[in-house]
This record gives sequence, C-alpha cells and structure tokens, in this order.
Amino acid sequence: MRRLRARVLQPLLSETAISKSDLVAPIFMDQTAQKRKAIASMPGQFRYPLAEAGAVARDLWDAGIRALLLFGIPREKDAHASGAFDPDGIVQKAVRAIKKEVPMMAVITDVCACEYTDHGHCGIVGQTRYGPDLLNDPSLDLMDKIALSHAESGADIVAPSCMLDGVVQSVRAALDREGYTDVAIMSYSTKFASALYGPFRDAADSGFQFGDRSTYQLPPGNSREAVLESMLDFDEEADILMIKPAGFYLDLLAEIRTLGVPVAAYQVSGEYAMIHAAAANGWLSLRDVAMEALTCIKRAGADLIITYFARDVARWLDEEQ
Ligand code: PBG
Ligand code: ZN
Repeated sequence: MRRLRARVLQPLLSETAISKSDLVAPIFMDQTAQKRKAIASMPGQFRYPLAEAGAVARDLWDAGIRALLLFGIPREKDAHASGAFDPDGIVQKAVRAIKKEVPMMAVITDVCACEYTDHGHCGIVGQTRYGPDLLNDPSLDLMDKIALSHAESGADIVAPSCMLDGVVQSVRAALDREGYTDVAIMSYSTKFASALYGPFRDAADSGFQFGDRSTYQLPPGNSREAVLESMLDFDEEADILMIKPAGFYLDLLAEIRTLGVPVAAYQVSGEYAMIHAAAANGWLSLRDVAMEALTCIKRAGADLIITYFARDVARWLDEEQ
C-alpha cells in the first residue's frame, strides 16, 4: 500500500477534496443592530445589520463562495411569528439587498418560526393531550406564508427547518399556487434534537421558554426513523435533503444520499464552537481539524456543506495555490 502513498503520487490519488462551490455560508441578519455584533460562542461570526447585507454577500462572492443561508433576528417577537412573514422583515429585506448586489449568489432562506416567536418554538404552540406543545397542522399555514414571503423577495431556495410533518408538500403547493414553481425546497429533512445547537440559539436568540424540541426533532440514536424522515420529504418532492448536525451522523448521511436527490450536510454551531474552543487552548490546529471534518463530511456523501467555516476555507484554499 505504501507505494501509492509516495508524496509524488498523493495528489494524483486523492479522492475527496473540498471546493469552494461545495460550501454554503450561514449569515445572521439582525434587525436590532446598527453595526455588526460579534457572537461570543462562535468566533469570527457576527450578527449583521441590514446595511451590511450587500457587502457581506459581495465579500463571500469575491472569495469564491456561491451560496449563503440567511437567518433573521427580528425587532419584536410574538406568539404568531408575525415578523417571519413580514414583507419588510429582516430576511426579506436582506434577500432583496443581496440579490441586488450579487444577483448570481444562491440565496437560501431558513423557513422557521423559532427566532420570531415569544415562546421560542418552531411554529404555533397550543394545548395537546400531553400539555403545551408545537401544533403540527396549524403551523403549516405559517410555514407557507414565511416561504412565500421569501420567494417573493427573491430567494432561490427555501429551507423549512421546523420538522413539521407534511411541511414540504404544503410549502411546495403554496409556492406553485403563487407561480413560484422554480423556487427550490431544501428540507431540513433529517434534523436531530441535538445538544450541538447551543451556540446558534444564543446567536439567533431562538432558545425556547418551556419544554424542548424532542417532540419534533429526532432522537440521536434512532437510525430508521432518521432515514424515514428524509424518505418522506423525498416523496413530498423536496429538491434537496439535509442532515443536521453533520459530523456525528455520517452513517446516516451515507444512507440518505442513496435516495437520489442531492443531500446537504449542516456542520452546526456546536461543531464549529468545539473546534474553535480547542484551538484557542492550543490543543489542536483549527485549520487542520476544520478541513478534516469537512473532507470527511464530503467523503460520506454530502453534495453541499453548510458551514460557518465557509469564508475561512475559501482563504485556506487560496493559500494552498
Ligand atoms: C431553527 C434552526 C436551528 C438551527 C438551524 N435552524 C436551531 C434549532 O433547531 O434549535 C441550528 C444551526 C446551528 O446550530 O448551527 N429551527
Ligand atoms: Zn426553528
């Protein structure tokens, strides 16, 4: 085996290499911000004011990144997530600003309610036989309205992240009804109730007031249920499936990619924060571990990778040239 590992042959035989066009950069847009605010648990990540949306997209584009995923932090929250489908909401305005500045940037929007509800859950909450919880069917309408408002603003892909049953079918029908037949759906199809979302919930101010997300997100140990979730979204005509988090779930990524549509893997805030924290202590190399993590996610079958390292990777790849 070692004959083929000679330094001179290594580049020739390498199977998996990350390229800039694999990557999607998540961006937090903050309606309450006048200037960018650093996110403490996510070094190098910021909440941006609307005024910076175009420039952030321009910088990513010039670095070679071709897609971004938008999250919004609204000025006000309420029980019905009104800010999420406001035509002049933060995400809607950011999409318009970005598309104006960089028309060819693929703009993906997160379709969920948790940043916009006062209780912090991902849709409409009400009484169930087990107490207060996220209501499935009454929340579908809300997701339709959010997705439509994003499509109207110019989003190329809408990405429902609420883990509601039937949301892909519902959003697809709503988009088609309004003539947005060419807006694609990337479903957060296999999304675990993970402890790795902690830094994100600080960043997006989307923590919940009661309960947890385990009645809608997946239990980390259940593999058939995880694959079935993606199969159902495939049947509902999701254009792109997703697994989230990425690094701990590569077995399922490898399985879900066999369904046939492209699969995105989301390297989440906790995966990013862990690497940064260890690197800050001098315990490992930020660049080497980040690149290894991303390479392994691609090797396992990701067609695209959503990662907070996107901007850094673009720079690292340039440095290698
Ligand atoms: C909202 C949403 C979450 C993430 C993306 N969209 C948080 C959650 O489900 O609580 C997490 C992303 C990350 O941790 O980087 N539904
Ligand atoms: Zn949510």
